[in-house]
Amino acid sequence: MPTVDISSWSETIRRHAVRANPYREFERTAAHAEEALAALGHDDVRALLEFKRKGGPGGRLLIRNGAIDPDLMPTTESTEDIENGKGTYYSEFTLIMLGKLLGEPFSYSQERNGAIIHNVRPAKHNETNISSDSSAVILDLHNENIYHPVQPDYLMLSGLRRDPAGVAKTLVIGADEILPLLSAEDVDTLSAFQFRTSVDYNFGNSDAERGNGPAIRVLFGNPASPMIAYDDEYIAGTNPRAQAALDRLRVILHENMYAVDLGPGETLLLDNLKTVHGRTAFTARYDGTDRWLQRLLVSRDLRRAEMLLGDTRRTVEWNYEPGKFYGYVDYR
Ligand SMILES: [Fe+2]
Repeated sequence: MPTVDISSWSETIRRHAVRANPYREFERTAAHAEEALAALGHDDVRALLEFKRKGGPGGRLLIRNGAIDPDLMPTTESTEDIENGKGTYYSEFTLIMLGKLLGEPFSYSQERNGAIIHNVRPAKHNETNISSDSSAVILDLHNENIYHPVQPDYLMLSGLRRDPAGVAKTLVIGADEILPLLSAEDVDTLSAFQFRTSVDYNFGNSDAERGNGPAIRVLFGNPASPMIAYDDEYIAGTNPRAQAALDRLRVILHENMYAVDLGPGETLLLDNLKTVHGRTAFTARYDGTDRWLQRLLVSRDLRRAEMLLGDTRRTVEWNYEPGKFYGYVDYR
């Protein structure tokens, strides 16, 4: 996987990350992150800006050698304990710098109470739900919020602590990597509005039935390096041919996906329009040693939210109304 080394950021991060608590004062922290970016040289950000400008193979980058928080607290289910007691916020600050370089970090009011930095670790009450805080079940391949008018352009996952058993892995595959494995006929089918996705329960879909939401194309954009809208669980073909192509795509994605084990100081940057991701099942211990990741969503341009939703807040508010026509899918 293409990698970028950000060891040259460490000193800047250590200097600026101590100035504010990112959970309590996000906007102040984001301003500090801008200052920190301005203190770097072009060589320090060149590869990331290039990824933003023209993408890269597989739609992903592994960012390595980030500043590591010393004396990391035990993994805890308590969000409050993390937000108040983590001590240093190097991992959060690194994510915010990366987010600021690529666009704007943002969140959804319905997810994690609108928190911008998501702490992803096993939660007992979510063990068998299909959510990022589950553990006992595989997290289906998907890309983030494909039904939403303001879809993240990028998704970043940082490793703070590995699964001690070495079983939990992030799964990822790029649309460009599976394109040669699809028949020309299936590519045609997947590139037409012959699919529907359902909308996440949190966003107002009360019956959560597969395929009851907006019409979508699964492949779109540049035919040579397409964008993808995919979800193992939510999408259905609107006719038997479309469903058969989707079933074949599912097999190809699962047979070819990569497993990534994110350790401290490592961040996986995913182009959310060109990759799908998931997670293997694992056994959580709830003893402080469990796997711990942090996640940040990035929009290249939050003005899109203003254009489509009439709002400019960093925490986007939108609820799906069943039966309503959503013209935003035409933007894709
Ligand atoms: Fe996800």
